[in-house]
Amino acid sequence: MVSANDVRAKYLKFFKDRGHIEIPSAPLVPENDPTTLFTGFGMQPMLPYLLGQPHPLGTRLVDSQKCFRSQDIEEVGDNCHTTFFEMLGNWSLGDYFKAEQQAWIWEFFTKELGLDPKRLYVSVFEGNNQVPRDEEAADNWKKLGVSSEHIFYYGVEKNWWARSSYASMPIGEPGGPDSEVFYDFGTPHDPKFGDSCHPNCDCGRFLEIGNNVFMTYQKTKDGFEPLAKKNIDFGGGLERITAAVNHDPDIFKTDLFSIILKTVEDYTDKKYSDDQNKPAMRTITDHLKAATFLMVDGVTPSNKTQGYFLRRLLRRAAVKMHQLKGGLTPIPGFQAICHSVLETYRDAVYFEESKDRETVRSIIEEEMSKFSDTLDRGLREFNKYQDNQLNALNAFNLYQTYGFPYEVTEELFKQKGKDLDKNEFDHINERHKKLSRTASASMFKGGLQDQSEIVTKYHTATHLLHAALRRVLGIHVSQKGSNITVERLRFDFSHPEKLTDDKIKQVEEIVNKKIGEDIKIERVEMPKAQALAEGALAFFPEKYPEVTSVYSIGDFSQELCGGPHVQSTGEIGRIKITRQEAVSAGVRRIYATAVS
Ligand code: ALA
Repeated sequence: MVSANDVRAKYLKFFKDRGHIEIPSAPLVPENDPTTLFTGFGMQPMLPYLLGQPHPLGTRLVDSQKCFRSQDIEEVGDNCHTTFFEMLGNWSLGDYFKAEQQAWIWEFFTKELGLDPKRLYVSVFEGNNQVPRDEEAADNWKKLGVSSEHIFYYGVEKNWWARSSYASMPIGEPGGPDSEVFYDFGTPHDPKFGDSCHPNCDCGRFLEIGNNVFMTYQKTKDGFEPLAKKNIDFGGGLERITAAVNHDPDIFKTDLFSIILKTVEDYTDKKYSDDQNKPAMRTITDHLKAATFLMVDGVTPSNKTQGYFLRRLLRRAAVKMHQLKGGLTPIPGFQAICHSVLETYRDAVYFEESKDRETVRSIIEEEMSKFSDTLDRGLREFNKYQDNQLNALNAFNLYQTYGFPYEVTEELFKQKGKDLDKNEFDHINERHKKLSRTASASMFKGGLQDQSEIVTKYHTATHLLHAALRRVLGIHVSQKGSNITVERLRFDFSHPEKLTDDKIKQVEEIVNKKIGEDIKIERVEMPKAQALAEGALAFFPEKYPEVTSVYSIGDFSQELCGGPHVQSTGEIGRIKITRQEAVSAGVRRIYATAVS
């Protein structure tokens, strides 16, 4: 078994021997870059230099960069997806170009690591009306001995690299055609993925182990213009390269996971060798590894931005532990797994072990005891349900209102002899997200008469009312309009029928309870996509700037909004719903005033 530590060391040495300077890994939370929450690519810290700024260490650089990809969280569980990984990277900043890069990476893979050239395939850009077909790269591969049958041409979806897709590159963003290298594990093709197999097929036979980006273009208003310098941006996943070297497609069998997996085995009394445990064990291992790296890079669990993802990782891992063990894992179990991450990376010098052990220990202690409370609260709510109430909607309510994880609800249903319909649950979840997305945004800006004190109070009350209506009537409620004057607020929302007096009373009670709790209103700036991903309500999201403000009222309400708002809910005073009427089919209108 070749260790990842060896692969990393060989790569760094190989490029250092060819004039590259090694640079340290940048932190997982990018510095001075508000456009993105995490470092997800090796090139991210290199952006200014790829755009032309001189790098203080020269034009040839090499590193192993810690990366975290929050968008892959749901993919984890198979043999090759992780949220955390290391990307080996080398750069030419206007120095060498295609011929040298291709020759070196070929030499590194085949000579230095000893990969069988017959198992390597490559892809090149097929060209479009803006950028020509990359015959130069294809010729270079041929000169290195790659046969035409192992060279595949693809379009912009596969062989164009930028931080966003080709179509959505913002003006000024750098990108370029790329050429990837794939390792063939030789497993049989699964026809579920198409008639014939090819390097970008998802059947599992091929694994991408490196990407040579010819970073030479910059997006303009009308298309592309060449960058001042022709750059090379190479990135290759260390875990995947090590899996190829060991000719085993399961990256979790490499030494980057083995100590962590062993600790998971110890605390669950389950074996990784048993196939049915693999998805859960991979998820726990990946998530606690990613969580450890995030904690050490200064992230603490919260409901926002980076902290939200850390919390999500820890909770998902806890739920999977719960599933495997059949009960709650004691806090020292989570601490031990995280500590085994520090041990795994001893050679890579990512950690200051004694300091980081303590950071991890104390965050886990606090967060996991809170999460046990959530599990407890959810369990109490669950126990209130009668058997005929065990349905997907109530499972969704537990998830939405108490943050109660789907997996645990599913398990509880099973214990009561009921199946939870995952499709129905997903459907409700999707519908919920869509309704957020489609209603009107007018209430916040257009609907405000002025920004006087009372109007500001009504504005915050409108957020509370909206959230309360969704809790009492259901998540089909979405805002259709709003108008505020100094006398009253008026709120239109989707709902098919007149509200009973009882429902009105319940809504009022919830709003007044939240006012009574005097919850501080919090505003954070975050990328719009992030806010939506976190579940903030937004009406006409396209109206909001790329970086937008999100107002939260505790865990109760979270909305994209321009403000203004009161500082804390206590300032509103009590609210009374005074009237309701129908606006059109399926849309109701209510009026509310502040009462002293
Ligand atoms: N920037 C390229 C990637 O992340 C190398 O795949």
